[in-house]
This record gives sequence, structure tokens and C-alpha cells, in this order.
Amino acid sequence: MNLLAIESSCDDTSVAILKDKEVLSNLISSQEIHNLYGGIVPELASRKHIEIISQLTAKSLEKAALDIQDIDAIGVTNSPGLAGSLLVGINFAKGLSLATGKPVIPVNHIEGHIFSGHIENPNLEFPAISLVVSGGHTSLFFIESFSKYKVIGSTIDDAAGEAFDKIAKMLDLGYPGGPIVDKLSKSGNRNAYDFPRSMLNKPGFDFSFSGLKTSVRYFLQNNFESNVPEEILPDICASFQEAIVEVLAKKTIKAAKYYNCKNIVIGGGVSANSRLRDYFRENSESNLNVVFPSMDLCVDNAAMIGFVAQNKFHNLDEKELSLTFTADPRATRA
Ligand code: KG4
Ligand code: ZN
Repeated sequence: MNLLAIESSCDDTSVAILKDKEVLSNLISSQEIHNLYGGIVPELASRKHIEIISQLTAKSLEKAALDIQDIDAIGVTNSPGLAGSLLVGINFAKGLSLATGKPVIPVNHIEGHIFSGHIENPNLEFPAISLVVSGGHTSLFFIESFSKYKVIGSTIDDAAGEAFDKIAKMLDLGYPGGPIVDKLSKSGNRNAYDFPRSMLNKPGFDFSFSGLKTSVRYFLQNNFESNVPEEILPDICASFQEAIVEVLAKKTIKAAKYYNCKNIVIGGGVSANSRLRDYFRENSESNLNVVFPSMDLCVDNAAMIGFVAQNKFHNLDEKELSLTFTADPRATRA
């Protein structure tokens, strides 16, 4: 079965083609324009999606060496995300459906991240613990199958990616902050400053990152009158990055032990973080199998949406097949 998948929930437009579970193409177009504003401007995001979606679809089909008539179904992200951005992808998918007579499968974006590690690791066994860690979400899931899973912990305030972005903004590093902090941290000392590891020793699997943000803000206010000297930026970045990474990794490993899972799957933009990857490698016991997707599958991408759509294809209800579904921007349930 050939499936065309569309992702446009935030500031990346992506179109992928999958042949069964194999990814034939997964093109991602990132919107640089938001860097000028230090964060995503929703109105600009939807306009940029409109500009590129048709041409990206044509390119993705070309890369997969397929024609639109070869497509058997269409998958599209319909929740959660920015309303205008989601609507661009959904309406484009519905238009393709009307033109080709093929069904559209609505997909939850977080569900895409949960299973993104399975695309390259088809033999990964359940039960597993999944950590979804991005700019909008930080949650742990206990997964029993592709259709049965539950949230076991979530951030009670900021997402981890949001903490990277907001602290990077305080330091005037640019947007998105995560990749910049990751790079700067490589030459820094992660033990230079002691930032809080919120909720690390609390029972349960919830997270909190807004205290860390406040702590860095006070640290900067108390120690520097205006700009932070460039030579100590790497130490600050490495130190607060370590605080985020340590909490994420320790809680995830604790969850794996509690739920008796030997497989851990990480997904979402922050899973691209090199220190997070190293930390898991250094601190997981040998009986744990920790899977990180390759970079294109960590960030927002349509291949992960297509993968979930493939899994859902045979169990769709009438509403899902009738094109009456719409965007559900605030859906919390994956
Ligand atoms: O999954 P994603 O592309 O979009 C959302 O659904 O949010 O994640 C974007 C987030 C941003 O907060 C960005 O700063 C963060 O992922 N990110 C990183 C890295 N690459 C992206 N955070 C830390 N280290 C990275 N290397
Ligand atoms: Zn995402």
C-alpha cells in the first residue's frame, strides 16, 4: 500500500511517501522566518505552509518515483498544533482525497512522535516506554501495542524544548535555542553551575521545567549587569542542558524499571540533543535498549504521521473516513 502523509502542525511543512512501512521519501521544509521574531508567529506559519505544500508534495512523489494516482491513502496530522497550520494540511489532504477518491486518515502528532523510533526498528518489542520531548510536549508513555498505550507522566508547566528555547532567548542566542545550546555546550563544563533538577526525586513521572528557567534568569540577573561574557556562555549552556537531560533520562529509566520494560523509545525535537543521547548511553544498564530515531525522524516530519496512518488504516471509523473531521488544536490525548 502506498500512502502519502502530510505534517503541518507547527512551523515545518513535511510530505512523506510510504510503501507499507518503508519510507520512500520524507521531505521537510523548515520556516526560517520565525527566527527573526524569536518564536513562532502562527499567522506567518500558516501562510508559509500554503506557499510550499503543493510543490513539496510534487517533489516527495517525484523522489519516491510515484504518481498521485499510485497513492492508496492519505494521512494527515489533525491534532494538536496551531489551528491555522493544521487546517492547511487537512484541507490540502481533503482536496487530494476529492480529486483521487482515496481516503484520508487523521493522525495525532504526538502519536507520530511516540512511534517514530519504530520506523527504523521494526522488530522493537512491546511493552516499551516512550519519551516524547519536543518544543510543545514532554510526556512519558507506557506502550503495550500500536493501539494501546497510556500517559504515565507529563510536564506540569513548560516542555523541555520550550525551556531550551526560552533560556536561549534570555542569553540572546537565537531561535530555536535547542540546537544552538547543544552546539555551544560541547565546549562547556556541565558542572560549572548547579541548576535545579526539578521533581527529580518526587514520586511519579511528571516533569517541571519552569523553575529551571527562573533559576537561570536570577543567576543571570545576579551575576551580570548586561551581556553575559561570551567565554562563559558554553559553561552556562552545558550546565542548564545537563539539568534538563539528567531529569529526562533518570525519570525515563525509572519508568522503564517500574513498568518492567527493556525497551525505551525517544521521540520529538529534543531527542536530537547530543548530550541526551550520550547520557542515556552512559547511564542505562545493559539490559535496557534505548532507541533514538535518526535526525529527520526526531524533528517534526510526515514519515512518522504516515507510519501511524498505516497502522490505523484497517480500523478507521466512519467519521474518520467521511472527511468531516477537522483540526483539533488542543487535543491532549495522543
Ligand atoms: O518536535 P519538534 O520539531 O517540534 C515540536 O513539536 O515542538 O521540536 C522542536 C523543539 C524546539 O524546542 C527545539 O529547540 C528543540 O526541539 N530541539 C533541540 C535540539 N534540536 C531541536 N533541543 C535540544 N537539543 C537539540 N539538538
Ligand atoms: Zn513535534
